[in-house]
Amino acid sequence: MESRYKRIVFLTGAGISSESGVRTFRDSQGLWEEHKVEEVASPQGFKRDPVLVWKFYSMRRIQANEVHPNKAHIALADALHNLEQSGCRTLLITQNVDTLHERAFGALPSKNFIDIHGTLSRSKCTKCQKVFSDRWCYFDGKSQPVQNHADNLWSHPGLQCLLSMPRRNAQGIPLSPCCSDLLRPDIVWFGEKPHGVEHAIEQLTTCDLFVSIGTSGNVYPAAGFATVARKAGAHTASINLEPTENSSAFHERIQGVASEKVPEFLKKIWQ
Ligand code: APR
Repeated sequence: MESRYKRIVFLTGAGISSESGVRTFRDSQGLWEEHKVEEVASPQGFKRDPVLVWKFYSMRRIQANEVHPNKAHIALADALHNLEQSGCRTLLITQNVDTLHERAFGALPSKNFIDIHGTLSRSKCTKCQKVFSDRWCYFDGKSQPVQNHADNLWSHPGLQCLLSMPRRNAQGIPLSPCCSDLLRPDIVWFGEKPHGVEHAIEQLTTCDLFVSIGTSGNVYPAAGFATVARKAGAHTASINLEPTENSSAFHERIQGVASEKVPEFLKKIWQ
């Protein structure tokens, strides 16, 4: 079997993980209804109250540990594998930090994978920016350290893995092994540069299919990727529960839940 397309870029957002039990951001009950974005997701917020920020991301690490990839993550991981085998070039860009794509791959993150907003499974030194694989929860609901499984699935190739809990300051904030300065989550906060944008744009301008899954189309640059791909001549498709903010950028708009619509859509890629 061959794919109808030769170069495919997928973009995913919180909606692909909602059926796994991960909360989205902007729906009712979404994360941003309960938290002030600038307090927990900005460099200024971290400077002001690093304990609050680490508590927020520690809770999210615990939650990520409790959920599993759903049918949409698994179908996508299988499709990426099969497409690559058949000679089609693929790229998966996710805005999600929940690690569910990596876990659906069943192996270390693929080279054709960009976590544009970072991931819960890494931390970085605030001084030298060195990045570490890190699954520790430094605060749980009771401000107690909680150990996670430091298994291979969460380690990143080429990165030092924090196998034992790093030293912490008097407030409980972890300190980097490199500079003994504060460690922070390797999450792209508001006002910071997303990861891998140049590579993403390069692939978007040469792909013949772009598929957006479970993202409201509110946050740039990801919200502009469909337009970039469409202008370059790609067919653009969106799979989302509700109409998205950027719906005019799509040739094809599929409404429904990702666990049903993603496997259905992926079957149609083959001829
Ligand atoms: N299947 C498909 N789509 C779904 C499902 C589902 N089961 N459940 C929810 N959705 C859709 C919602 O209708 C919504 O349009 O997923 C979308 C999720 O939108 P957001 O909550 O805005 O999440 P996302 O687009 O990923 O947000 C982008 O914003 O705050 C930042 O950094 C954060 O990466 C995040 C970025």
